[in-house]
Amino acid sequence: MENYLTSKLFLPVIVGTNRKERKSVLVAKWLVGEMSKRAEIETRLFDVKDFALPQDDYGTALKDDFPEWRDAVIRADGLVVVAPEYNHGYPGALKSVMDLLLKEYIHKSVAFVGVSAGPWGGTRVIEAMVPMVRELGLSVTFSDLNFPSVQNKFDEEGTLLDTAYEQRASDFLDELVWLSRVLKWGRESLASKHHKA
Ligand SMILES: Cc1cc2nc3c(=O)[nH]c(=O)nc-3n(C[C@H](O)[C@H](O)[C@H](O)COP(=O)(O)O)c2cc1C
Repeated sequence: MENYLTSKLFLPVIVGTNRKERKSVLVAKWLVGEMSKRAEIETRLFDVKDFALPQDDYGTALKDDFPEWRDAVIRADGLVVVAPEYNHGYPGALKSVMDLLLKEYIHKSVAFVGVSAGPWGGTRVIEAMVPMVRELGLSVTFSDLNFPSVQNKFDEEGTLLDTAYEQRASDFLDELVWLSRVLKWGRESLASKHHKA
């Protein structure tokens, strides 16, 4: 029988912008490094810039055109979304990628990393994403990671300058792991109209 307290969790990270000069990718790569230090987590970085989305179609009809993302979400126990704040909302490219799937997300966790040039660390983009992911069936953690003034947070090699983020990331991941374990147990133990136990 599976040991729900110790089994390894698959928690992919998606970086949510294809902007050329994006800082969010530095945040995402740093976080993947922190996640990789934990034996209980397997992760993989996905990047919306790698999704060649058509201009004339949209949504779950396209999911088999993106099998790596589809299969990763099917296998995932939860997701981390690195979301830059664009006019208090999320980039359209991120929404387009999220919309490729639907039932594959149900009863899995999601944790948000907000990234902004301004002083609020993407709190507004996170708040904007919460009602959207609810429709996908995802369950949101209540510990976010916030990168305000992100343009000042990394050196030219992409090294994070503020060591306080190590503890913040640790707390953020503890919460994500907790919720992911509970939901994994739930999906596999309690039948729902959305999935078999
Ligand atoms: C279209 C657009 C809208 C933006 N709106 C905001 C905003 O509402 N608040 C903010 O703090 N920064 C805003 N920014 C700046 C981004 O937060 C900034 O680029 C930051 O580095 C994170 O995004 P990045 O990964 O694209 O670099 C905006 C940037 C763009 C391109």
